[in-house]
Amino acid sequence: MERLDKSLLIFLIGIFIFSCISIKVYAMVSGQCANCHTMHNSQGGSPMAMTGNNTATKLCHEDLLKKSCVGCHTGTNAGVIGSSHGSTPYVFSTTAPIYGVNTLAGGNFYWVLKDPTKGHNCLSIPGMQPDPFLSEAPGMPEVASGANCAGCHRRIDSCMSCHNPKHHANDKISPVVGEEGGFYRFLNSSYHPSNSTGVIGIEDDDWEYTVSSSDHNEYMGCNNLYGKEDNSMSNYCAGCHQHFHGIQWTDTNGKVIADGKSPWFMHPTSLALSDATGDEYQYYNNGNGYSPLAPVARDPNRLLTMTHSTSQVWVKKGESEGDQVMCLSCHRAHGSPYQDMLRWDYKACISGTDNSNCGCFVCHTTKDK
Ligand code: HEC
Ligand code: HEC
Ligand code: HEC
Ligand code: HEC
Ligand code: HEC
Ligand code: HEC
Ligand code: HEC
Repeated sequence: MERLDKSLLIFLIGIFIFSCISIKVYAMVSGQCANCHTMHNSQGGSPMAMTGNNTATKLCHEDLLKKSCVGCHTGTNAGVIGSSHGSTPYVFSTTAPIYGVNTLAGGNFYWVLKDPTKGHNCLSIPGMQPDPFLSEAPGMPEVASGANCAGCHRRIDSCMSCHNPKHHANDKISPVVGEEGGFYRFLNSSYHPSNSTGVIGIEDDDWEYTVSSSDHNEYMGCNNLYGKEDNSMSNYCAGCHQHFHGIQWTDTNGKVIADGKSPWFMHPTSLALSDATGDEYQYYNNGNGYSPLAPVARDPNRLLTMTHSTSQVWVKKGESEGDQVMCLSCHRAHGSPYQDMLRWDYKACISGTDNSNCGCFVCHTTKDK
């Protein structure tokens, strides 16, 4: 009897340790190693089928993977995506996706392949050509103009230009994903990774396949208005589009000509929505909370205390810990059906008319009818 108890105990401890290990290993991707990895790139004596544009990686993929980034992430999102962490989020579809129906938060590269003005021309996607209109990231930091920097700062050579993948990182330790979870959506430069600029946020379970004011990603806002280094989404975009960020304007002699108030010289980012009486931002989304059409970034301190269960419908206005306008208030990250990868059709934003599909009106609530 005593023996039995002991072996039962050992058995239970065994299960416990095993499940801890598996939680650690499988927190992110799941399934058999062989689903994703190949040890010798050989099957029945022949090399395995590879995908992608890059001849250098036609033969083998890094990390003994069977496919490239694009190979795994090409497809059409359908069904119960995300619910069990067994599915792959597709960011490139070879047939036309339906915007907002089977696309994810970043949009889709499909439209960029058709028209280079509709997003980031990621060259590892088969058939993608460099953007014929942009020879560098508009607003790029001058120091990044050199040849060694071109594959990310002048054109987008691959998904790794932006992502630093950590598929096995445990992003379930806390709802707020930071360094330990491989950063929000693996957003950290693979070339100069840094804990002070990797993006922090809360990851929606199905990558916003389904999305509403209570079911969405959470993006970290900025710690300061001047675009200094931090873990915000806008600062991340500004790593490549530096001059499109920050709210202080100096002339060529270094004299400050405008500093953080109307009239603006460029649309502000990282600025909290005002709640002053009479200001239109007070009525953001007509009082219906967070709008996935024109989302806000959260005050950094407030974001860190958020959880999935305290539903994130609430939008806070005002200077103290107020929610902020950010790059992704207006843009998608990968591509969209609209010019400049905007989240909505800007041409259909006509002042004095109602248009619930125009994101400008979500904040500029007195500029429609
Ligand atoms: C669903 C796909 C998938 C499965 C299943 C998978 N991996 Fe991976 N693994 C990846 C991807 C993608 C990478 C690419 C680099 C990254 O994100 O770290 C990777 C990277 C790695 C790395 C190098 C980076 C690191 O985190 O150490 C190792 C080692 C690894 N996998 C081992 C395994 C083992 C062992 C298994 C089975 C227990 C496994 N993988 C199962 C997708 C998978
Ligand atoms: C073997 C297939 C495979 C390969 C190769 C692969 N991925 Fe993934 N990736 C996946 C799967 C599966 C998931 C979903 C993991 C989960 O359940 O959350 C994923 C998730 C992601 C995510 C979202 C992470 C999140 O927080 O939800 C990003 C970003 C990503 N991959 C980028 C890349 C990049 C960049 C590469 C190339 C370096 C790459 N992947 C290569 C299978 C792959
Ligand atoms: C690794 C550097 C890099 C990062 C990070 C980056 N971009 Fe870009 N971006 C570029 C480059 C290079 C171009 C020009 C070439 C192209 O369009 O592919 C560009 C072009 C653009 C364009 C114009 C697209 C067009 O087709 O006219 C927009 C809009 C844009 N980026 C917004 C963003 C936003 C928003 C973010 C943050 C989510 C971001 N970028 C992050 C490098 C980057
Ligand atoms: C593999 C892609 C890649 C290469 C190569 C690359 N960068 Fe970057 N760089 C990024 C990304 C992504 C960001 C935005 C994220 C960040 O700020 O870390 C960035 C941000 C920056 C920033 C802004 C830093 C900040 O704190 O916001 C500077 C400056 C910069 N890069 C300079 C360079 C220089 C100089 C080179 C060449 C010697 C270079 N980069 C090469 C991807 C790259
Ligand atoms: C210009 C930078 C950039 C490039 C290039 C880029 N991504 Fe992303 N990716 C992002 C950002 C930013 C997000 C977060 C979008 C959000 O949450 O709104 C993201 C999100 C994702 C996600 C989560 C699903 C989603 O739509 O939110 C996956 C998966 C992913 N990227 C894979 C890839 C793959 C694969 C490639 C190459 C084909 C790629 N990315 C190229 C910046 C980039
Ligand atoms: C997420 C909210 C948000 C969205 C979406 C948004 N704006 Fe703004 N906008 C602001 C805030 C906040 C200010 C700064 C208000 C202030 O001065 O306090 C601003 C300022 C402006 C200004 C400058 C006003 C001045 O005083 O100089 C213009 C013009 C403008 N926005 C136009 C647009 C257009 C056009 C769109 C759609 C493409 C748009 N905005 C989308 C929040 C937003
Ligand atoms: C209020 C909405 C709004 C916000 C916030 C916003 N943008 Fe834009 N962006 C636009 C619109 C609209 C365009 C199209 C051109 C125009 O109307 O000026 C554009 C164009 C661009 C372009 C293309 C410029 C070119 O020369 O082709 C880039 C790059 C860009 N934005 C990056 C960013 C980055 C990075 C951020 C955050 C720091 C940001 N945007 C914030 C609305 C916005």
